Amino acid sequence: MSKKYIEIYKKIKKFHKNITVDGDKSISIRWALLASQSLGISKAKNLLKSEDVVNTLKCLKQLGVNIVSKKNTCLIYGLGINGFKYKSNITLNAGNSGTLGRLILPLLIKSPYKIKIVGDKSLSKRDFSRVMTPLKEMGVNFYPKNKSTLPIYIKGSEYLRPITYMEKKGSAQCKSCVMLSSLNVPGDTIIKAKKSRDHTERMFKNLKLPIKLNKSKNFDYIKLSSPKRINKLNMTIPGDISSAAFFIVLTILSDNSKIVLKNININSSRIGIIKILKKMGAKIKLKNIKIQNGEKVSDIFVKSTKNLRGINCPTSLNSSAIDEFLIIFLVAAKAKGISYFKNLSELNQKESPRLKIATRILKLMNVKVKANENSIVIFGNPKLNLKKKIIIDNYLKDHRIMMMSVISALSFGGVWKIFDPDSVKTSFPSFLGIIKKLGANIK
Ligand code: S3P
Repeated sequence: MSKKYIEIYKKIKKFHKNITVDGDKSISIRWALLASQSLGISKAKNLLKSEDVVNTLKCLKQLGVNIVSKKNTCLIYGLGINGFKYKSNITLNAGNSGTLGRLILPLLIKSPYKIKIVGDKSLSKRDFSRVMTPLKEMGVNFYPKNKSTLPIYIKGSEYLRPITYMEKKGSAQCKSCVMLSSLNVPGDTIIKAKKSRDHTERMFKNLKLPIKLNKSKNFDYIKLSSPKRINKLNMTIPGDISSAAFFIVLTILSDNSKIVLKNININSSRIGIIKILKKMGAKIKLKNIKIQNGEKVSDIFVKSTKNLRGINCPTSLNSSAIDEFLIIFLVAAKAKGISYFKNLSELNQKESPRLKIATRILKLMNVKVKANENSIVIFGNPKLNLKKKIIIDNYLKDHRIMMMSVISALSFGGVWKIFDPDSVKTSFPSFLGIIKKLGANIK
């Protein structure tokens, strides 16, 4: 069977549009997992309908949870903490999702049976020891012993102990895995975590679960104890800033264009991209700010920007822009001056080794770059205009690499052939539809 691809021959013409993007992925997955542990019927509006979320719902259904999806609403009939009902010998497939693979484990730590966890080719390359190590310390068993990638088996324990956990990578998945384990572990779970997205903390607070939070400049201190029960959680899921990011950058890099992105989550632990692009001179404004179910939401107004400047990107912004660097690199490619991005080794731990693949793509685009495992220097060229043919293939079907390539083609020209376009279904199924609505020509 021949592989699917799209072709883009032309830059996008000027556009003025109001758009919405799909619901936030991190919030959608967390909502579903927590709703499954509640006693009651939880309702979400605008839940993301991407493959990562569909796989989350499939896993929960296999664990005995009743889920009803209608139009724009999803109902989850929670079974209570550790209330899953399932037979021995089940296999849960996390697909492409690190968040699902890592955050489902803490809900299984009392399982009397071995449960097999599998994932796709990309997820099977990713490190699970980062979450297995703290869970093992609590008394959870993993098989085969000493394996740190999927497939693995998890078997719970009746005798779990609370731990004090130090999270040094700035990984919200590691932090949230330990946080969710506190639902099942007696006593106090204590976490010192390098700053990372805090949706789990916000949901715990919203649910009035026992959580104490203290913040310092670089670290958050979290104390949790096991609750008696979890009440239902009703939410309207805001638009995903990580999806909005592609349109923010497309607008900045296109001529005479404007966009309004409606109802986007602007949680301060997620808006590194806005801070970084503003430092580079981009015209971005946040309007109609409100709080919705414990999360900050706003409309984002963006205009084309001519005089972009290079940036020495503060590493303190890394975690709040971790999924957006690919697209930020495109702005650096067009900025006047040299841009420096450091301490980014975590980028190579994502759905694909993103720092390596982005370097490869920038070089194909004739952008001068110097990169190693940890950092990248981009020599910007305000006149960047491509005439060559560029083929994007063999990128482990990483959804964000695919979307970065489309934005690059529409912003810088050239003839692009991009394989595996269905990869966007992981996080942003409406991506190509919106791109076409803005007037892009895609075959
Ligand atoms: C996520 C955390 C981040 C991010 C991922 C989603 C989450 O991963 O890259 O897309 O929902 O917690 P890390 O925790 O590995 O940094």
